[in-house]
Amino acid sequence: MSELSKPVLPGEGASDYERYLRTDALLALQKTADEWVHRDELLFQTVHQSSELWLKLAWNEAEEAGHLVAAGEIAAANRLMRRSIHSMQLVTAALDVLEHMSPWEYTEVRKVLGHGSGFDSPGFRELRRVAKPLGEAFHAARERAGLSLVEVYTRGREHEELYTLAELLIELDERVTVWRVRHFKVVQRTIGADVIGTQGTPVEVMGRLIHHSFFPELWDVRNDLTRMNLPE
Ligand code: HEM
Repeated sequence: MSELSKPVLPGEGASDYERYLRTDALLALQKTADEWVHRDELLFQTVHQSSELWLKLAWNEAEEAGHLVAAGEIAAANRLMRRSIHSMQLVTAALDVLEHMSPWEYTEVRKVLGHGSGFDSPGFRELRRVAKPLGEAFHAARERAGLSLVEVYTRGREHEELYTLAELLIELDERVTVWRVRHFKVVQRTIGADVIGTQGTPVEVMGRLIHHSFFPELWDVRNDLTRMNLPE
């Protein structure tokens, strides 16, 4: 064994790869074959657990972006916003894998979920929490620049960074909605839209969340811009 392949990091695992990434602990987080009621539990847990990791990155980057905007570092915030958005795209793509499950076989998996519901997803909860101060930091920065929201757009070329931030905020908002639309279709395809969820919410009521947005004013300003410049 060469010197370079010997582990030097502290912790569990035969190699530094396993020690740094804590793969022993990570890979022990899924039920084992003798614990499954159906082997699709591995698919189900993998999609959910990996989604929670990407959501953790999404909200951490969005939170830090808010701090950077408050400190006037808009370009640095924009970098982190792009990461947050990309993480949401990966969470959305992961939903596709769930559609490889048979709806009949999923009824077996569902029996072992207890009252477990996505309403208690820590990742989504944190994302909702950080969105508000992030939006407030953007509006404070725009006011410091002496701009109304309309002017962030009409004078966007003079205020490139603020304009880009506004567009990244609406993009994050849109990506969350796209996730919700995809999630609704996955739910409808798997358990149906006329049933009750594991926490008692009718699926159809959950579907209405598709109309929720973090930054409604950024959607509304489009109406103002269009009305301001109607053809003669
Ligand atoms: C077969 C797969 C899935 C089914 C059948 C399903 C089902 C449901 C249902 C019925 C609800 C409504 C609340 C309830 O009563 O439980 C819900 C909400 C939710 N689920 Fe799922 N879900 C699935 C996959 C996922 C995945 C992979 C995630 C990713 C973390 C997720 C996250 C959420 C969230 C965040 C909500 C709250 C609604 C919202 O904020 O829009 N779900 N889900």
